[in-house]
Amino acid sequence: MNSSECFDFELLGQATFGRRVDYHATIGSTNDRAKQLAAEPACPTPLLVLAGRQTAGRGRGQNRWWSSAGSLTFSLLVGPETLADDPRRLPLSSLAVAVAVVDALATRLGPSRLGLHWPNDVLADGRKIAGILIEIAAGRRPVIGIGLNSNNSLQGAPDDVRRRATSLRELSGREQDQTELLLDLLVALEGRFSELRESYQRVCQAADRLCLDRGHRVTVEQGSAHITGRCEGIGDEGGLVIHTASGPRNVMTGHCRRL
Ligand code: BTN
Repeated sequence: MNSSECFDFELLGQATFGRRVDYHATIGSTNDRAKQLAAEPACPTPLLVLAGRQTAGRGRGQNRWWSSAGSLTFSLLVGPETLADDPRRLPLSSLAVAVAVVDALATRLGPSRLGLHWPNDVLADGRKIAGILIEIAAGRRPVIGIGLNSNNSLQGAPDDVRRRATSLRELSGREQDQTELLLDLLVALEGRFSELRESYQRVCQAADRLCLDRGHRVTVEQGSAHITGRCEGIGDEGGLVIHTASGPRNVMTGHCRRL
């Protein structure tokens, strides 16, 4: 079966975000492609850039995103109005996407196995199952890149990825229907984005319930600065609440590590 046969484009069109698809059997990075398309003024949104196989996936910061046959990798280019069109709200968008990914996975794995490592790593049984990279393209249009380990095996992955990651197939023991999974994800994203616009605190509360670091000692790196203390969850503005030696702090950006 070639990779495009994995997707039923007519079915995907049932979701608003699946109506226009830019499909590539093999591509470097769907985020790069979405940004390239966004630079064309006539480029319509929403637009789904979907890969059968991604060869140069990017992660947050300088990280790369490893994927293999059977991974689900795509980027969604949307209009600025789709998310809260305010740069200060970008961390909230990350949370909304992460919660939507959990929504779509919960029916397949059961909600109790899923959680979030702030701001937007999705974990299943304590291992990373999905990564999210949101970037802003031309015309202030957000590109929401999602890499989900669905039907792939982690066997051929580099050691550090194999130690920390898992896939839906490994956990459920079943092959997933990629179209249905993607469709569920697109519908969940649409729902969480409208929640974000209408009442963003609800998104933060959902993320807080999924926060896996609560009660643990964490440090958030912001360049050369570190904020260290006990994690108390995710606050109503989407930041990580940390009880430090000098009192509670609401941390809005940075890389969080558990100590
Ligand atoms: C991370 O956890 O660091 C984020 C990983 C994001 C990976 C996805 S795969 C689809 C999209 N295209 C990319 O190049 N990256 C994102």
